[in-house]
Amino acid sequence: TTRNYVIDEMISAKAIAARVEALAKEISNHYAGTDKLVVVGLLRGSFIFIADLVRELDLPVEVDFLEVSSYGNSTESSREVRILKDLRGEIEGRDVLVVEDIVDTGYTLKHVLEILATRHPKRIEVCALLDKPSRRETSVKARWIGFEIPDKFVVGYGVDYAQRNRNLDHIGAVRFTD
Ligand code: PRP
Ligand code: MN
Ligand code: MG
Repeated sequence: TTRNYVIDEMISAKAIAARVEALAKEISNHYAGTDKLVVVGLLRGSFIFIADLVRELDLPVEVDFLEVSSYGNSTESSREVRILKDLRGEIEGRDVLVVEDIVDTGYTLKHVLEILATRHPKRIEVCALLDKPSRRETSVKARWIGFEIPDKFVVGYGVDYAQRNRNLDHIGAVRFTD
C-alpha cells in the first residue's frame, strides 16, 4: 500500500532538456575519437534520460541495459541490489558510460560498478541526472551530474514512486498528505 501525496514541480521539462544538451556536449567532448561508447542504462528509472541523452551525443554509441532493483515499492533503499536483467553485449576493453536517473544512498551504483568492473572494460564512468549527496552511504561518485537536489522523494522523467509517475515530463517532489 502507498500513501496519499501530491507532486510539486521541482525541475521543469525545459530545464531538464537544457541540462541534458549541456551534459551531452561535455560527454561528447570527453569521448571524442572513441571507436565506440557503450552506454548502459539502468532500468527502469533511466529509460527516459538515456533516450534523451543518447540522441544528443555526437559519438558512435551502443545502447545496452541492465536491470537492477533495490527499492521495490518502498521509499527506503533495501541496500541489497539484485540483477534482474543482464547486459546483452560484451564490455571487455570498451569505454562504458553508466546512465542513472538518480544516485541516493549509492548502493545501486556501487553494486553495478563492482559487477561491471569484473568484466574488464577499458574504463567506466557514470552520468546521473539527479544526485542527492546528503543521503549518500557509499563513496561512489558520478562523473557527470545533471542536478544536485535536496533530500526529497522525487518522481518523474523516469523516476517512480511505487511504479507510478515515471511518465511525468518534469521532476517533481512527492509531498505526503496523510
Ligand atoms: C532507484 C533509482 C536508482 C536507485 C537509487 O531505482 O532509479 O537506480 O533507486 O537509489 P540508491 O542510490 O539508494 O541505490 P529502483 O531500485 O527504485 O528501481 P527502478 O529504477 O526500476 O525504479
Ligand atoms: Mn533505478
Ligand atoms: Mg524505483
